[in-house]
Amino acid sequence: GDPRLQGISEAIRVVPHFPKQGIMFQDITTLLLDHKAFKDTVDIFVDRYRDMDISVVAGVEARGFMFGPAIALAVGAKFVPLRKPRKLPGEVISEAYELEYGTDCLEIHVGAVQPGERAIVIDDLVATGGTLSAAIRLLERVGAEVVECACVVGLRDVKGQSRLNGKPLYILVEPRQVCDYEY
Ligand code: PRP
Ligand code: MG
Repeated sequence: GDPRLQGISEAIRVVPHFPKQGIMFQDITTLLLDHKAFKDTVDIFVDRYRDMDISVVAGVEARGFMFGPAIALAVGAKFVPLRKPRKLPGEVISEAYELEYGTDCLEIHVGAVQPGERAIVIDDLVATGGTLSAAIRLLERVGAEVVECACVVGLRDVKGQSRLNGKPLYILVEPRQVCDYEY
């Protein structure tokens, strides 16, 4: 495989029991502090998408905003933020998704994407796939073609993938379950 992936995986801090007991939190803020690992991450996505005629990179608030703009600039696409409710001032459409307890929602500005545009969705991590599924529905409602979803961290064999309505999911590294980072 790609020799850069190990460095990316090791730059992600694993924090046990955050935000609650039993969760091994995959903290990408330490990846952002590591210039080589951060650049390698962006470069891998850029190499994959630069010749795929992508005109929209949609990033999911908040952690998708940390990777999406760099990728959009490098592939020559626009960046479209998919935001949590009541943050966007213009006309929006909304899509709800399931959380462990209750639901949340993402919104997109109407007019940010034109029908027929080719889009990718970027986020830091996929777990249940609920967030990405809402992102896909938003983009399809405004007429975009969702070419792929891309995440830095995720399980390859997931239930998450089955929620993405057949859309391909591209993942760089699997979550680590051991905490070997000093903090
Ligand atoms: C996290 C993560 C993904 C999502 C993945 O975001 O950044 O967006 O959960 O979970 P899922 O696949 O089960 O939907 P979160 O909503 O916690 O907030 P943040 O990105 O604003 O920090
Ligand atoms: Mg998120």
